[in-house]
Amino acid sequence: MILAIESSCDEFSIALVQHSKDKVDCLMMKTISQINSHATFGGVVPELASREHVKLFTKTLEAIKDHLKHDYTQIDAIAVTIGPGLSGSLLIGIQVAKVVATLLNKPLIPMHHILGHLFSGSLTAPMEFPCLGLVVSGGHTEIIYCLNTAQYEIIGCTRDDAVGEVYDKIAKKLGLPYPGGPLIDTLAQKGNNVYTFTKPKLTDQFAFSFSGVKSAVINLINRKQQLGDEIDIEDISCSFQAFVVDELLIKLAKALEMYPSKTVVLCGGVSANSELRKNFQNMQQKFTDRKFIVPDIKYCSDNAAMIGAAALFNLMIKPLDHLKVDCRPNLTVEEYVTAYKNNEVK
Ligand code: KG4
Ligand code: ZN
Repeated sequence: MILAIESSCDEFSIALVQHSKDKVDCLMMKTISQINSHATFGGVVPELASREHVKLFTKTLEAIKDHLKHDYTQIDAIAVTIGPGLSGSLLIGIQVAKVVATLLNKPLIPMHHILGHLFSGSLTAPMEFPCLGLVVSGGHTEIIYCLNTAQYEIIGCTRDDAVGEVYDKIAKKLGLPYPGGPLIDTLAQKGNNVYTFTKPKLTDQFAFSFSGVKSAVINLINRKQQLGDEIDIEDISCSFQAFVVDELLIKLAKALEMYPSKTVVLCGGVSANSELRKNFQNMQQKFTDRKFIVPDIKYCSDNAAMIGAAALFNLMIKPLDHLKVDCRPNLTVEEYVTAYKNNEVK
């Protein structure tokens, strides 16, 4: 059994996970979200996020204590997100993990946040390899190819904004509170796809770019405001969402054609999006030889169960001397795999 901790942004989450046949079971999870604290600022304030983590994390430890009834002998290892993320936020989770690992005398497994999102699929259905993952969140938009649990390749990523970031920026322009993604999703379902946006011209067939559509939507709203026209928020949301979902899934379909894979996972906070989930699942009809996994909503946004699941699949990552574990705010998947598999932490 793994006790996992995730604190890379504005959620402090703790979970207990274990292998169950060919998937991962989450035995308990307690996540404390700070969304309300940041909403008034229109986005995550890093300093506030770490302060809130310090204030609130003990509640998650109490939940573990209650679940295990003070019997910690079943815990085999502690896993913790070391990056990428906000350094102050990461540090709090890492310090908590170090203390727990030291007191229980258990190994500490450093985990990469994006691999966490990828393996969130295993909490819903068995993941088979090779596997392709479409990771869409507030900070990341990537297609990741996992040949086996020792070989990962980012085959496409955004050249500018992450898709969730664009959702949040457009929502802000529309006067909606943070995080705007879920609100735009709800509005989009009531609107019509009436506006077309220019597709980005990129030489790399798997690269994404969302700054163009972001500017186009913001300019559209500005123009309407200057002319005193009605802001048809539902149609704007629907048109923007249709564009984004199309962009993401066209590139994923290309990757599916080029990369042999058994499982395809949609993951990250934006994978909670209704249109994206529906269209992703529809792709199953074309790619009948692949298994499409859409994680349960509770495993889409940042959570500790996904970090524990990734640790279970990556047990060849050598646990580190607790003192050597440090936060790595800009850690790439490639750096992580190279450094941690060889135990060469810099
Ligand atoms: O993975 P996540 O919880 O945190 C990061 O690692 O970034 O993702 C948060 C992002 C936010 O940008 C939020 O607006 C977006 O996910 N999001 C959505 C939806 N639910 C959350 N975006 C579009 N539609 C949704 N239903
Ligand atoms: Zn995330």
